Amino acid sequence: MSAIESVLQEKRVFPPSAKATSGAAISGMDAYKALAAEAERDYEGFWARVARETLTWHKPFTKVLDESKAPFYTWFEDGELNASYNCLDRHVEAGRGNDNAIIFEADDGTVTNVTYQDLLERVSRLANALRKRGVKKGDRVVIYLPMSVEGVVAMQACVRIGATHSVVFGGFSSKSLNERLVDVGAVALITADEQMRGGKALPLKSIADEALAAGGCEKVKDVIVYRRTGGKVAWTEGRDVWLHEIVENESATCEPEWVSAEHPLFILYTSGSTGKPKGVQHSTAGILLWSAQTMKWTFDMKPGDIFWCTADIGWITGHSYIAYGPLAIGATQVMFEGVPTYPHAGRFWEMIDRHKVTIFYTAPTAIRSLIKVSEADEKVHPKSYDLSTLRILGTVGEPINPEAWMWYHENVGKGQCPIVDTWWQTETGGHMITPLPGATPLVPGSCTLPLPGIMAAIVDETGQDVPNGQGGILVVKRPWPSMLRNVWGDPKRYQTSYFPEELGGKLYLAGDGAVRDKETGYFTIMGRIDDVLNVSGHRLGTMEIESALVANPMVAEAAVVGRPDDTTGEAVVAFVVLKRTRPEGDEAKQIATELRNWVGKEIGPIAKPKDIRFGENLPKTRSGKIMRRLLRSLAKGEEITQDVSTLENPAILDQLGEAR
Ligand code: PRX
Repeated sequence: MSAIESVLQEKRVFPPSAKATSGAAISGMDAYKALAAEAERDYEGFWARVARETLTWHKPFTKVLDESKAPFYTWFEDGELNASYNCLDRHVEAGRGNDNAIIFEADDGTVTNVTYQDLLERVSRLANALRKRGVKKGDRVVIYLPMSVEGVVAMQACVRIGATHSVVFGGFSSKSLNERLVDVGAVALITADEQMRGGKALPLKSIADEALAAGGCEKVKDVIVYRRTGGKVAWTEGRDVWLHEIVENESATCEPEWVSAEHPLFILYTSGSTGKPKGVQHSTAGILLWSAQTMKWTFDMKPGDIFWCTADIGWITGHSYIAYGPLAIGATQVMFEGVPTYPHAGRFWEMIDRHKVTIFYTAPTAIRSLIKVSEADEKVHPKSYDLSTLRILGTVGEPINPEAWMWYHENVGKGQCPIVDTWWQTETGGHMITPLPGATPLVPGSCTLPLPGIMAAIVDETGQDVPNGQGGILVVKRPWPSMLRNVWGDPKRYQTSYFPEELGGKLYLAGDGAVRDKETGYFTIMGRIDDVLNVSGHRLGTMEIESALVANPMVAEAAVVGRPDDTTGEAVVAFVVLKRTRPEGDEAKQIATELRNWVGKEIGPIAKPKDIRFGENLPKTRSGKIMRRLLRSLAKGEEITQDVSTLENPAILDQLGEAR
């Protein structure tokens, strides 16, 4: 409730400037309303028009939306296209082969320009090499690469030959990689010797070797290794090959594999409230269409713009807004290998200055961490750089607090750049609720209104609409082209997680709580309503971290909750019961460190609990359910006001209140 109240008090409004409105793809609220009305009036006609205008079809579609197997919807199903053709060939054919596709800046500052012609040739060579190794349409290829041009080339090469990629973030552990390789049934793995981040070389190939050795992935025949650092790696003859060697003699042209609009473009794993991460399956036309269209609408991309999305290709944002969207519209984008604080905390601003970035898209957590350092050190403050090329700013991944919004607006945008606070998810494939830079009056902390064609709404637990001003469950009422199609290998989970019977079985359940403003109807996201945490814009399932903890031989029981954190949004707090007596003092500290590292190895460093607290027991109801609300209060250091009379051992509340 406090989140709702604080936002309702936000009265600052920033209407778009005349400069932002003039020439914008959607110029003014009337233009927005006209598009939204077109979609309301003729839903299929609207989407068909956009799909015809935005994509190049090898075989035009005749059907638009098929709801006969709801909630397994299909869009444009009899149409055929190729994603890589749409992202590369069509720009080269239009005479734009010499335009820069990617301006790549390495960790050490080395800059490489890659034109559309270069990119097409590199993609074609790798696509040919993959084909030669037997990778074919429908096969799954796992990509475990650092931020690199090769990462984009690998993704594009897979889809060029109709293979479905599954990118695993380079920060995930061998165990997480192994689980994904097994679940997706990969036939090949593309990785690198090492990755460079913040001046340090970090292993990738050795983690991949461990993942493959852990078993279950016998179908992986080829491990293709990009040589990034030249660091020493172990080699399995007959399985491991160098990327530069297999592409060396390949032709620079490669006939694309034309696939149905519904062909799986990629599978990307994300955390849910229960069990293992789920493989979110996306369609070819859906992702391509919406990532391209939102580049034009949300970012108002025009010729001459330089776009920079700071996300990693291992997350959905890096898929839709690095690997597909910008390329599908023929844009020029900056891609960055490193971290925002190396060699100094002004790196983002320095790069905007150096590359004349006009549209900058990042996460609130990055903004919040940079506020702290720049306010302490003028040299790395945005004011020490020339940011005058910036035209539009964006944020994604978590709610942005109005203070951070204002700082971003004033210091980075100099009060001149609209901020698009884009709400969306791995499952939605692209932006859903967001301001439009040339139309929407901005309110700090609100993602404002749904894009045309997106039927977002707020309902109660029974699926009934709630009035504006009242908080509720965020849903989408009609299917849209870029929505997920399935949970890989688990259609039941797709149905129960996203179209639950409790809400009538037809509404897409986003898993977020939200509220609409009484007067404007603007949406404000209040955060997850399920057991999913959002740490630095990354989704982590509490269950996943709990199972990682109990997998440790010392641990008997564990419960994980989130606690608000100034920088990361939320922080992981773990309550742990050991099999032995409850540790205290230095011993507790040492075991906490051990368990933190353990979680880092089981899942990845992003999942490491910030706090670990030991108790002789966990607070439970009579029926044995862990009282999570109570744990959340303990994690925040709040006074306990809930009824604890049913607790067997109230003394554990004192034990669990202490941070380690
Ligand atoms: O809770 C919402 C939050 O991030 C979740 C989706 O996480 P993920 O699938 O990892 O995708 C992140 C990048 C699209 C959502 O359920 N979220 C995302 N964007 C916003 C947000 N919360 C508030 N405001 C946003 N702009």
